[in-house]
Amino acid sequence: MKRRNFLTGTTSTVFLSAMPTFAAASVPMPYDVNAMPPMDDRKSFIDWMVQHRGEDANLLGERYDRFLQLIAHKDIWDNRNKRAYLMTPREDFVTAANLARVYEWHYLDIGFGVTITGPHTVARMTNTIEPRMGEKVLEIGTGSGYQAAYLSYLTDKIWSVEIIKPLYERTGRVHSNLIAKGYREYAAINRKNDDGYYGWPDAAPFDKIIVTCGIDHVPPPLLQQLKPNGVMVIPIGPPGAQHVLKIVKRQAADGSIAVERSDIYHGAIVNFVPFTKFKDGTVAGTHNSG
Ligand SMILES: C[S@@+](CC[C@H](N)C(=O)[O-])C[C@H]1O[C@@H](n2cnc3c(N)ncnc32)[C@H](O)[C@@H]1O
Repeated sequence: MKRRNFLTGTTSTVFLSAMPTFAAASVPMPYDVNAMPPMDDRKSFIDWMVQHRGEDANLLGERYDRFLQLIAHKDIWDNRNKRAYLMTPREDFVTAANLARVYEWHYLDIGFGVTITGPHTVARMTNTIEPRMGEKVLEIGTGSGYQAAYLSYLTDKIWSVEIIKPLYERTGRVHSNLIAKGYREYAAINRKNDDGYYGWPDAAPFDKIIVTCGIDHVPPPLLQQLKPNGVMVIPIGPPGAQHVLKIVKRQAADGSIAVERSDIYHGAIVNFVPFTKFKDGTVAGTHNSG
């Protein structure tokens, strides 16, 4: 079978029978980095995904309909990110009670007082940092695990921190079950239950950082763990008035560092759940300084 490599633009012959398979897998054709579903037509997309990934045709239709909205609202703009959105089965990351609403615009409750971020926001934040294959990406706020799964179609080096222990454990089971079903790409996700304010020093430095909880300042440890010329997206501001900022840690020719900030929503407020902290071993209060 001939297949076009969307990363290099070259065409190669792919022998599907040579790919490793999983005894317990229910994904008909395990993921490979060149996999690219058709994007221009709803039926072709659904047919390809049913054949390659074994997913539900109705939910695939809903995923595609939201995809058209992501493009129309300029929340997603390059082919690699379009593929990441289309390949990620969001239905596996929401609670059963919200399955009928999985491809709605907005965030949804996932229990523990927190949410799965809405698809438009996930797409815009992820496309903004433009993760490349091989780059190290740190996510603060694993939550449902959806964002981390989405990232696994863009890079094979992901670290994700979640502060709520039972949620961290539940999401670990979600990822493990999906890996066992054949979504082997999620094995690229390293996770820990910790306070993400302090980043992940042992794995630093990172090319990209994505923060999915809101705070009134950029945590100095995260800026410190970002590589020179690295990019972070982070919701900044007081509760109820957060702006999602793109932070570039720009290094000049003389080695000096300047921090550039821009608002990826051009002034619109986008609120997130709070950036919380531990107090006496439990999650209590926030890291806000003001
Ligand atoms: C909007 S939610 C989850 C979004 C998530 N990326 C997803 O795909 O579902 C933000 C998450 O940040 C977590 N969080 C809040 N403060 C944190 C901290 N200090 N360290 C790590 N995670 C934190 C919350 O518990 C919550 O799960």
